[in-house]
Amino acid sequence: MYKFLEGCKKIEELASEIYHRLAENDSVSQSLKKVFSQLSSDEKSHARSLDLIFQAAQNDVKHIPLISNESLEKAIELAESLAEISSEKIRSEKMAINLAIKMENEFVKVHANNSLHFENVRLAELFQMLGDEDRRHIATLKSCMDN
Ligand SMILES: [Fe+2]
Repeated sequence: MYKFLEGCKKIEELASEIYHRLAENDSVSQSLKKVFSQLSSDEKSHARSLDLIFQAAQNDVKHIPLISNESLEKAIELAESLAEISSEKIRSEKMAINLAIKMENEFVKVHANNSLHFENVRLAELFQMLGDEDRRHIATLKSCMDN
């Protein structure tokens, strides 16, 4: 279980890094840079929330076999590969937004699907919140696409 939460923290940290890099990309307009920066700091605060949960729930967290490590592994793999894409390869706003949406869609599977499987109420609520945040990010990104 501890490993699962560590992995969850890792995807938030990678996401924060990815958004930070997208915010610095030359093909991204000033207004979209602002959006990416905000998303980057959202992800950083998600990582911090997971940290707090570790500390509060260390002895309390039980292993629940239904938790999907498979979706977490997929999300880590995708985030790692996105983190490695060089900035020059991201040549348009559309491409940057699409990468971010793809990433958030993978994260929803980790958060929303697993939120039902925690006995610990605080963990269940946190994963529910993280899933809501992913969806909110997707909506924000889609609205940037329409502009
Ligand atoms: Fe997040």
